[in-house]
Amino acid sequence: MEKKLTDALGRPLHDLRISVTDRCNFRCRYCMPEEMYGPDYPFLPREKLLTFEEITRLVRIFSSLGVTKIRITGGEPLLRKDLPQLIRMIASIPSVKDIALTTNGVLLKKQATLLKKAGLERINVSLDTLNNDLFTRLNSRKYRVEQVLEGIEAAARAGLRVKINMVVMKGVNDGEIVSIARHFRGSGHILRFIEFMDVGNSNGWNLKQVISMEEIVSRIHHEMPVEPMKPNYFGEVASRFRYQGSDEEFGVISSITAPFCSSCTRARLSSDGYLYTCLFASTGTNLVDPLRSGASDESIKQLIEEIWQQRTDRYSEDRSLQTGKQKGEKIEMSYIGG
Ligand code: GTP
Ligand code: 5AD
Ligand code: SF4
Ligand code: SF4
Repeated sequence: MEKKLTDALGRPLHDLRISVTDRCNFRCRYCMPEEMYGPDYPFLPREKLLTFEEITRLVRIFSSLGVTKIRITGGEPLLRKDLPQLIRMIASIPSVKDIALTTNGVLLKKQATLLKKAGLERINVSLDTLNNDLFTRLNSRKYRVEQVLEGIEAAARAGLRVKINMVVMKGVNDGEIVSIARHFRGSGHILRFIEFMDVGNSNGWNLKQVISMEEIVSRIHHEMPVEPMKPNYFGEVASRFRYQGSDEEFGVISSITAPFCSSCTRARLSSDGYLYTCLFASTGTNLVDPLRSGASDESIKQLIEEIWQQRTDRYSEDRSLQTGKQKGEKIEMSYIGG
């Protein structure tokens, strides 16, 4: 039997997060602030994006190294033309056991049925507020909260399992923690609260803006008693909780106050074909040149294997919680997809 591939800290390679576009129809303040991502922003030209064939080829190679879980991200992945076709191609790879997608939700109403038919199983939808005024200031001037909620319902009707992601920021939307928990309790969709992270270089992150997992859970517990649950699997990103006396759950993603690097099994592929071994990496490995210059599957596999074997990333565990000190230039979230 082939020896299992692990990195320098003993972590296996299980998941691949694939960004299919660096564009987005939202301008979230913490990700693509309007002042920096205006009409002239130089997004990647089409020929720089990996084609569906190139992505599928890479997924096959990654799956031969142990990847069974694929997440499609962006920017906003539903802006990528003919995305269901890519889902169909990836779903046909036998060793891929889980295909999911992370989206802002507004295009789901149109696309949910096609995505489900193509083989998508589940989606995670970002929703930071139910208040339309705040939504306009924080996420998008073009769309309304209602359209995200309609997208979520369309996805559920199409048979997709749904999670909701709320990035919690102190003094911005933390007043809605309990009301959003109430809103989604009993909906069948799992809400996850995300500690605001220092991803990228453009969101002006400050430790003072973070509401900790402990605080989030305690605010909910005060209104609706909760208890912790066991993880579903090794390396699950969210800590799970349930409302006492029920099987209704929610999650908290605590990258700041309780980092989970020691079980991080995720590789990331940017839309122009670079491999990143951490969300907070500053540089990636070029896979597109080998792909486009006739390299064999075996040699690309070897390259990925070497990169993974050398991997020592543990950014969130290294980040100083005392000072909130961040390290160097980092890749932008919209380029690598979270
Ligand atoms: P599930 O498979 O449904 O558990 O998905 P997920 O939570 O891994 O993916 P999603 O795209 O919904 O991400 C939710 C939040 O977790 C986002 O803020 C991501 O940036 C963050 N996240 C996902 N993976 C990592 C990671 O490896 N490190 C850190 N620091 N954050 C991560
Ligand atoms: N901190 C935490 N989560 C973030 N996301 C985007 N930027 C940040 C940040 N700075 C979330 C999005 C989406 C997911 C991919 O990452 O809201 O749900
Ligand atoms: Fe778009 Fe998601 Fe970034 Fe918001 S967080 S601007 S929805 S990619
Ligand atoms: Fe993995 Fe990097 Fe996130 Fe740590 S900070 S969990 S190593 S992606």
